[in-house]
Amino acid sequence: MTGTLTLSAIPSIDAEPFDLRRVGAHPDYWYPVAWSTDLKPGKTLGREFAGEPIALYRGKSGKAFAVEDRCAHRQVPLHLGVVAGDTLKCGYHGWTYDCTGRCVDVPYVGAERIPNGVRAYPCQEIDGLIFIFPGDPALASSRAPASLGSAMNGGYKTRRLNREVNAHYTFMHENLMDMNHQFLHRRQMGAIKAHCLGRRSGDDWCEVDYTFSRSTGVGPLGELAILGTFRPNGGGDNKDLMTIRTGYPYQDLRVWVGKGDPVLHVWLGYLPMGEKQDSTRVFGYLSVRRPGIPGLIDAAWPIVTWFTERIFTEDKHIVELEQAAHDAQGTDWNQEVFPAIRSLRNVLSRCGAPLTTASGRN
Ligand code: FES
Ligand SMILES: [Fe+2]
Repeated sequence: MTGTLTLSAIPSIDAEPFDLRRVGAHPDYWYPVAWSTDLKPGKTLGREFAGEPIALYRGKSGKAFAVEDRCAHRQVPLHLGVVAGDTLKCGYHGWTYDCTGRCVDVPYVGAERIPNGVRAYPCQEIDGLIFIFPGDPALASSRAPASLGSAMNGGYKTRRLNREVNAHYTFMHENLMDMNHQFLHRRQMGAIKAHCLGRRSGDDWCEVDYTFSRSTGVGPLGELAILGTFRPNGGGDNKDLMTIRTGYPYQDLRVWVGKGDPVLHVWLGYLPMGEKQDSTRVFGYLSVRRPGIPGLIDAAWPIVTWFTERIFTEDKHIVELEQAAHDAQGTDWNQEVFPAIRSLRNVLSRCGAPLTTASGRN
């Protein structure tokens, strides 16, 4: 994707003052907006991208489409309308739009008086998620993610991650990539410490490697269920490697224990919400490699779910407090000292776009 990156006019984080929370998610990427299973044939869903209302509908053919959620006639939401074949009929006077947004029927006037339609968005389904492309449609086909982590790999058991977080998407990227916050999870994880092993970066991506050590106690059962082993106590002989990557605009976390495929693979996509993009709908997959003993991971799955849910709840709470602090202060007072996060902030700034209002004004 590097070859097609358009660098925005946003200053580097070294420029002062700089507020990463005023950097918008760049529209020239695919964003997840709904689970495929939540949009049944002949049904609609109302969604948004950064305050821009979007109507999703699934035509009778089974294909999902996305159009502006605003009837060209009197501006009411189109997702309240009715699907007819592969068209969407507004619920008020029945103006009908095809999947390109063109108005194809106004029931009470002749065909020669059909007005302009509404905007349509490129829309496709990847690994059980519906994505839309809110930016320049000419770039859409070159920027689609090929797959979402290991969600479709039969060698893994996968759960959906699904939550709304009242925080700017950049807080989500920073939270996941900065494993120095294990102290936050002390009630779930015990006395565990991250050791950064190195980092790499490019124009639109960065990644960091960690290993972990435990100073006292034993690991929780959830950790055992995911890793297949306890992390050793005492610091030495670490066997685990975690790599966290932001490949704009998505994130990916993998953990290896020994040789072979990762034992854990998490994929995350962030949908910015509201004109200020100060809340985020998170879509993700958490995949755990199936151990050699059949049925073991299925038996342990309630523990995996309970354990990971508690950790993600702590993360949600803390980033929402970060957003609240930002809102109270009016700008970004953060003092970031960890090189991997400074590098991430530069990627997010470089790849982002100026915040715009839904009406298109800066
Ligand atoms: S408002 Fe949609 S058809 Fe009139
Ligand atoms: Fe966390």
